[in-house]
Amino acid sequence: MPPPLTLLPWLPAMPIEIVLYIATSLDGFIATPEGGIDWLSAIETPEEDYGYEAFYTSVDAIVMGRRTYDQVLSWGDWPYPGKPSYIMTHQPLSSDLAEVSATAQSPSDLMATWSALGYRRVWLVGGAALAAAFRAEGLISEYILSIIPVLLGNGIPLFMPPGPRAEVQLYQAETFTSGVVQLTYRAAKPL
Ligand SMILES: NC(=O)c1ccc[n+]([C@@H]2O[C@H](COP(=O)([O-])OP(=O)(O)OC[C@H]3O[C@@H](n4cnc5c(N)ncnc54)[C@H](OP(=O)(O)O)[C@@H]3O)[C@@H](O)[C@H]2O)c1
Repeated sequence: MPPPLTLLPWLPAMPIEIVLYIATSLDGFIATPEGGIDWLSAIETPEEDYGYEAFYTSVDAIVMGRRTYDQVLSWGDWPYPGKPSYIMTHQPLSSDLAEVSATAQSPSDLMATWSALGYRRVWLVGGAALAAAFRAEGLISEYILSIIPVLLGNGIPLFMPPGPRAEVQLYQAETFTSGVVQLTYRAAKPL
């Protein structure tokens, strides 16, 4: 049996990739001012999952803000069964699902928790407030942005200002017949 992690303080923590995988309008909004995402249905088709399944399989856990969680729950069954899911909130939250837990830890403390659990890749689902909290601590290592061919004119911005400056490198650009463009950027400097 391996010794407990606490007995191995000299071992460097393995880096964790935090991936913001999210859909955005061409003008940079992730939802309408009221939080609506009905505009995403225009590009949904059974023939194309935009790499979602492969991406979902690649992550050890997901993290989302409370408003995104409440919205997802309002749609019905929890769509991420069995995947460790961390809901960031300062309010009480109870779930019947063992894999869903609420936390008010800071993003960096949460990453230390994930590191101890052996997680290597975590999906930052959103929304904008939570992404801003991770960005403020310089913790996002990859951005996978699906740009939907629509201008919403107004809404919840993908990147809430102010935020820190961050250099990124384009890793991949993929176009789809629906008009979606998926851009993958990675943090330019090691985190
Ligand atoms: N287009 C897409 O792919 C996509 C993906 C995800 C979400 N969305 C949209 O995004 C919208 C929601 O985004 P949002 O920015 O309004 O809200 P959000 O980021 O989902 O949730 C914000 C809430 O999360 C909690 N929170 C945030 N940072 C925290 C921290 N550091 N520590 C503890 N708790 C923290 C707070 O909850 P408490 O007040 O409870 O403390 C805060 O009010 C929804 O309309 C959703 O549809 C779109």
